[in-house]
Amino acid sequence: MSSHHTEQTTLTVNGEVRSFPVDPRTTLVDALRERLGLTGTKKGCDRGECGACTVLLDGKRVLSCMMLAVAAEGASITTIEGLSAEGELHPVQRAFHVNDAFQCGFCTPGQVLSAVACIQEGHAGSPEEIKEWMSGNICRCAAYPQIVAAVTEASVQ
Ligand code: FES
Ligand code: FES
Repeated sequence: MSSHHTEQTTLTVNGEVRSFPVDPRTTLVDALRERLGLTGTKKGCDRGECGACTVLLDGKRVLSCMMLAVAAEGASITTIEGLSAEGELHPVQRAFHVNDAFQCGFCTPGQVLSAVACIQEGHAGSPEEIKEWMSGNICRCAAYPQIVAAVTEASVQ
């Protein structure tokens, strides 16, 4: 007997309403990447430990590997693809660029979205505070000094 079944799910992603069938056990990161083709959201550990899959849900950061897609229904989801108007870099993206805050780039979408929320939360007042509140976002390339510099710069804009 197959236990597979799908349910029609409606998500609002980057201002667009998208309806599609999913297995209700599908995580948000898999729905974004595999069903909606939004591969800017990265899947690193798939168990809540690296932050690569960070997206914004109603402006708050969440780990999309730890959340079911169906649980995000009704919320406004922002992925890296929708962070800024077309063709323009968001100020946080610009600060990452200017400060060389990435090497391989794998962690970067999650770092950028986390940084946007970190600044909005008022948790970017000092390098120490930024380190603490960005500690859920792991960078295997250890670009941490540059990431902290970029968040600092973006926070005063
Ligand atoms: Fe979600 Fe690592 S992929 S926290
Ligand atoms: Fe490579 Fe962060 S830039 S993991």
